[in-house]
Amino acid sequence: KSYNVAILGATGAVGQTMIKVLEERNFPINEIRFLASERSAGKEVEYMGVKYKVEAVSEDSFKGIDIALFSAGGERSKKWAPIAASKGAVVIDNSSAFRMDPDVPLVVPEVNPEDVKWHKGIIANPNCSTIQMVVALYPIHKVKKIKRIIVATYQAVSGAGATAIADLENETKAVMEGRYYYPQALPHHIAFNVIPRIDNFEPNGYTKEEMKMINETRKIMHEPDIKVSPTCVRVPVYVGHSEAVTIETQLPITAEEAREILMKAPGVIVEDDPINNVYPVPIEVAGKDDVFVGRIRKDAGFENGLSMWIVGDNLRKGAATNAVQIAELLIKYELI
Ligand code: A2P
Repeated sequence: KSYNVAILGATGAVGQTMIKVLEERNFPINEIRFLASERSAGKEVEYMGVKYKVEAVSEDSFKGIDIALFSAGGERSKKWAPIAASKGAVVIDNSSAFRMDPDVPLVVPEVNPEDVKWHKGIIANPNCSTIQMVVALYPIHKVKKIKRIIVATYQAVSGAGATAIADLENETKAVMEGRYYYPQALPHHIAFNVIPRIDNFEPNGYTKEEMKMINETRKIMHEPDIKVSPTCVRVPVYVGHSEAVTIETQLPITAEEAREILMKAPGVIVEDDPINNVYPVPIEVAGKDDVFVGRIRKDAGFENGLSMWIVGDNLRKGAATNAVQIAELLIKYELI
């Protein structure tokens, strides 16, 4: 059996990666539609060696569509997801618009695959930093029960879209040539800098990105009381989010035990031989679908503490790959 698939945001950083991931995984496609704004109507994209024209999204775009992959920003999702669902499509939405809606499952296939079963037309794809963190931590949680997570992120500019990628490139060139390039997407110059702000600030002093890590982790892991202390930072990296993570567990855990658990965990690759400079770095993780973990060590500050370094491709496992895996679950569970 094959399916009719639409991609909304097909010209964006995540949309382009969705196209690649569908190709690589040989997703069973009957008809495919590429949707974006009117600005992109008529542009060409390639899928499986065939050129397609991008269409401006409209109500008719979703007629006959089985699966709609959305990555065009929250406002577009709020507008178009209910329309696509009303036409019979299952929407897999990469924006934050529906993630905390109690009627919408929030799914990481390695953690809570069964949650896709209660969807009502929309399934949310979690925040990129949250996905890679729970893929690595959930297997440890199952055995040792995590009480607390302290995390600092080092997030790539591609997470903020195509304009932010251009910011890094243009600013870097400008600095080398002694000019100044005014940032277009990010709140500060990002070249040769780091910015401790991703998304808007909330009254409690945290950013929205940080609140996503708290709330989404709880929803995905079905642990409403797990404590998460995040700081989210943008760094001048094109692709690949890194995270310095410390956990406190209920049961004692050694670094060796954690390594053994993670070596068997789905979607996780352990790269941990620090003496030989083996630990994951974003340049090497970019382009890969797994979550990479290294620097696994007993934490010096907690009784039952463990620290580690987690790296994932934010466009792939953090967005496109996770969304396509959710689509694969719909097929597996015969929900479409
Ligand atoms: P477009 O290229 O036509 O602007 P990124 O996150 O990399 O900036 O990508 C955002 C994606 O969302 C692009 O594919 C963009 O299409 C799409 N998009 C932005 N605004 C709209 C809109 N009003 N309607 C449909 N798609 C949109």
